[in-house]
Amino acid sequence: MLVLDFPGARKFVATIDAAVAAPDVHTLTDELRGSLCRLIRDEEVRLPDCCYQAQADHYARRELYRSENLGYSVIAMTWGPGQGTLIHDHHGMWCVEGVWHGALEITQYELLEQQDERFRFQSVGAMQAGAGSAGSLIPPHEYHTIRNPSDDAVAVSLHIYKGEMTCCSVFRPLGEQWFERGLRQLCLDRTH
Ligand SMILES: [Fe+2]
Repeated sequence: MLVLDFPGARKFVATIDAAVAAPDVHTLTDELRGSLCRLIRDEEVRLPDCCYQAQADHYARRELYRSENLGYSVIAMTWGPGQGTLIHDHHGMWCVEGVWHGALEITQYELLEQQDERFRFQSVGAMQAGAGSAGSLIPPHEYHTIRNPSDDAVAVSLHIYKGEMTCCSVFRPLGEQWFERGLRQLCLDRTH
């Protein structure tokens, strides 16, 4: 189901469908990463204008497409200057994320130990991802933050999830590498 129409949408969906049909999660995410990088550079594919409109108080999430046959969903996210996330997971789903416009800083974390709702994480490195780059997150290596490090530029990223993601775990810092888990319901933003 195409939630938002845009130039090149058919080609976009056909390309993602072909990659998601791969037989195992590692092949699938490898192919999808390559496909997404090509789509970002494809001048026939242009995201809807709303995807470039940041919200003042939070990063924006807008659903572009949800596959009825294959189950995956595609979300465009818009990051105002300095906007970012807490450490979070993807509710156990694989995800392939690409930078469509601008640049983002992505930091991955490994889980060192857990005591009930308290988790201890270690940063395993931050990377700057520019437009045209893509990465994948496969559980259990799914904990990360995303941030737009720019002082004045908006960044846009595209996220393809195994299924519809309506909630995820977020981790609030307690100090000394410890974090407390909370559940966050994820909302969608206006498209006009
Ligand atoms: Fe994420």
